[in-house]
Amino acid sequence: MAILEVEGVTKRFGGLVAVDSVSFSVEKGEILGIIGPNGAGKTTLFGLISGFLPPTAGDVRFEGRSIVGTPPHLLVKQGLVRSFQIVQTFADMSTLDVVTTAALVRRPLREAIDYAALILERVGLSGKEFLTPKQLSLQDKKLLEVAKCVATDPRLILLDEVMAGLTLAETEAPLAVVRELNAQGVTIVMIEHVMPVIMRAAHRMIVLNFGAKIAEGTPQQILEDKAVKDAYFGDHIDA
Ligand SMILES: Nc1ncnc2c1ncn2[C@@H]1O[C@H](COP(=O)(O)OP(=O)(O)OP(=O)(O)O)[C@@H](O)[C@H]1O
Ligand SMILES: [Mg+2]
Repeated sequence: MAILEVEGVTKRFGGLVAVDSVSFSVEKGEILGIIGPNGAGKTTLFGLISGFLPPTAGDVRFEGRSIVGTPPHLLVKQGLVRSFQIVQTFADMSTLDVVTTAALVRRPLREAIDYAALILERVGLSGKEFLTPKQLSLQDKKLLEVAKCVATDPRLILLDEVMAGLTLAETEAPLAVVRELNAQGVTIVMIEHVMPVIMRAAHRMIVLNFGAKIAEGTPQQILEDKAVKDAYFGDHIDA
């Protein structure tokens, strides 16, 4: 059963078509990877799915119902949450406060605090509850971003480059968190630039280029796809 259906979704910014009639669906329990060159429209697509941006055209259905026009905080309550590519800092809050705030979506304060501590432990941030996000390494900031999402008890998480900027070794921790979440039944859509990481994590992938979906398939099929190779490496061979 599809948990998410994106149908002919388009986003125009003035003359620029950032997302160009994109359609795909995500099955319940799946990990779908989204890749594409810089500026391909990946983050914009997440904005359209998660209620942060209104689409110019098209429809988005979550668990069978259209969610176009539903604001992000209501979507979070319904079980759809996104992470942000640019990690927000919340300078004066502790990591525990940040995650507790997210947990308050479904829990009273006392419970939310305990739950937030548990989530921080699950993502590998135990011992760092009272640091401010500013004091965290990039890797830990990314884990905090994931923890914030997890604390809302989502059924569908959209992760925007939570592994970008990390070394391959540093991606192990977030990758393990993603797999564990998925094993618990959470459906995941993840944007990543790091090919070896997304290839290992995703069951299926879609590729965007200049706003349009140019390929869809298993990681192996994507690796071998001619349109994908052209998008990444250019088609410079003159006949
Ligand atoms: N709010 C906006 N107003 C105008 N143009 C925008 C806006 N947001 C994004 N764009 C443009 O839309 C295009 C797609 O941007 P987007 O951030 O979705 O790409 P991306 O695939 O996430 O890129 P990256 O890999 O660098 O994160 C870009 O040309 C970008 O400059
Ligand atoms: Mg982006």
